[in-house]
Amino acid sequence: MDAKYLNNNLLIDKKNSEIVLPEKFLNSKKFLEIGFGGGEYLIKKALEDKNSFFIGLELSLLSTYKIQKICTKKEIKNIGLILIDARFALRNIFEPEYFDGIYMNFPCPWPKKKHSANRLNDKDFSVLLLKVLKTNGFFQLYSDSKEFIDNFIVSLSETKKFSSPVLEINPEIMANTKYEGKWLEQRKNIYKLSLYKNHDNGEHFATDGRYEMPHFKIENFESISKIQEILNKNQKIDNTIIVYKRILKDIENEVYKIETLAIDLIEGNKKFEQKINIIIRKREKDWIIKLDDFINPYRTEAVKNAIFNLKNIIS
Ligand SMILES: C[S@@+](CC[C@H](N)C(=O)[O-])C[C@H]1O[C@@H](n2cnc3c(N)ncnc32)[C@H](O)[C@@H]1O
Repeated sequence: MDAKYLNNNLLIDKKNSEIVLPEKFLNSKKFLEIGFGGGEYLIKKALEDKNSFFIGLELSLLSTYKIQKICTKKEIKNIGLILIDARFALRNIFEPEYFDGIYMNFPCPWPKKKHSANRLNDKDFSVLLLKVLKTNGFFQLYSDSKEFIDNFIVSLSETKKFSSPVLEINPEIMANTKYEGKWLEQRKNIYKLSLYKNHDNGEHFATDGRYEMPHFKIENFESISKIQEILNKNQKIDNTIIVYKRILKDIENEVYKIETLAIDLIEGNKKFEQKINIIIRKREKDWIIKLDDFINPYRTEAVKNAIFNLKNIIS
């Protein structure tokens, strides 16, 4: 290993624990990749967008060395690597609201309980992501582990400051990293999670009870066919569009989950889309229809209308 590569644009002033960016990129957009491994993704992104700066964090000295060498040889100037634990870096090194977006590709899932402290998907870590992300900045994760992703979604939702998660299975655009290749060879599913940090103006996305969430009871609910008839059809209600996408059934427990797209139309062609689930659950004497608050969407008018409308359709 030739030490000269390691000293090239490693971004940190260790004495002051400060990031030292090349002057040219001081006011550029900045993106972070956590655990860049073979560096394929970081390099691809940096070459696609030469006006932005891409910071990579890694624990592996060998990976950092190899990527540093590639960057030096290919004269890639908009990548900076830091050999550091991501948790430590997010907490202690980066200023708040530093990044426009954060990528994480195939983080180690550490499935065994004794290694659980290494998992980068708990609430503390989610709060650190929030800290360093700008408002409207995104977080994007690829993983082969559904369990890791599910737990991450819970942690991210608990902060109440991210948008609803969008989860794709075997997405059209893949990460094309070394680990992705390995999991694809084993015919595993690839999951892609994306969400962004919400702004706090509360205007359209009130969580303050402005849009109280309704729940409804109905006495008889005999057939799901009325919902089937309107699946994937846009329903325009006031300033909202509702699309019921899919019905998931848990017959044993007499629960239906209706995957729904709730769209609030905002002035000037803008819209705010959230994926929500509406639950229809059998109780002793009746059925209840309510929001599944597991993914904790903003309680917008569209979310309210989606529940109300569904009740009208089936009752
Ligand atoms: C399974 S590999 C994936 C590498 C690459 N992203 C890919 O998709 O091929 C996970 C990487 O995350 C790095 N890593 C694990 N924990 C980390 C942490 N706390 N901080 C920074 N990097 C970490 C590991 O060293 C490893 O290179």
